[in-house]
Amino acid sequence: RPDIQIMPSILAADEGRRADGCRRAEAAGADQLHVDIMDARFVPNLSMSPATVGMAREAVSIPLNTHLMMMEPQHHIDPFIDAGTDTLLIHVEARCDCARELKRIRDRGVKQGITLNPETPAESAYALCDAGLVEEILCMTVHPGFGGQSYLEYVETKMADLRRRYPGIGLSVDGGINDETAASAAACGANLLVAGSHLFKQDDMQTAVERLRRAAQE
Ligand code: DX5
Ligand code: ZN
Repeated sequence: RPDIQIMPSILAADEGRRADGCRRAEAAGADQLHVDIMDARFVPNLSMSPATVGMAREAVSIPLNTHLMMMEPQHHIDPFIDAGTDTLLIHVEARCDCARELKRIRDRGVKQGITLNPETPAESAYALCDAGLVEEILCMTVHPGFGGQSYLEYVETKMADLRRRYPGIGLSVDGGINDETAASAAACGANLLVAGSHLFKQDDMQTAVERLRRAAQE
């Protein structure tokens, strides 16, 4: 599996020194940075904004992968694109016309994708994927809202289903990723691995990124 990418989640970086966290992840060999946006409505927590994406854009040159945990993402698409994100992910459970928003993101030249909560069935992604509107499917392996939770193994059935159906679409996994769960998720077809607390708690992040990549490639 040569196409594994590691995406550190800067949610786990020290809030007051987020730019340092971004640079640290890039220096450690990260392929992309994952930016978690929470609206205190779709999830019971609040985090970051388009300004954070702008800060990350200035801090590093690797692509930015922005995950909108927002109830009404349709009102916030443009500011995140203007701030320089490379990928924008919306949740299928959000109160919006997903097809329309995915087209809007694509038309602005940014990669567009969808996210599924742990209980949301694979079927919720089919119509959007079959319509060619999805470049990345993110499967949550925790209930979104907080870093540092444990990986929910039951999501693997859904990941395997989506990988089988859509071999050409990026399949990312987010929540509770460490060497062991990365190996397990990759075996089900995940090729984009988001990791927050596991990577940011390391003294040597570069070695940890290499270890995670190796675990997923085996
Ligand atoms: C959870 C976020 C995740 C989070 C992952 O709501 O979407 O991206 O940062 O954190 P860890 O890797 O600590 O589970
Ligand atoms: Zn995320």
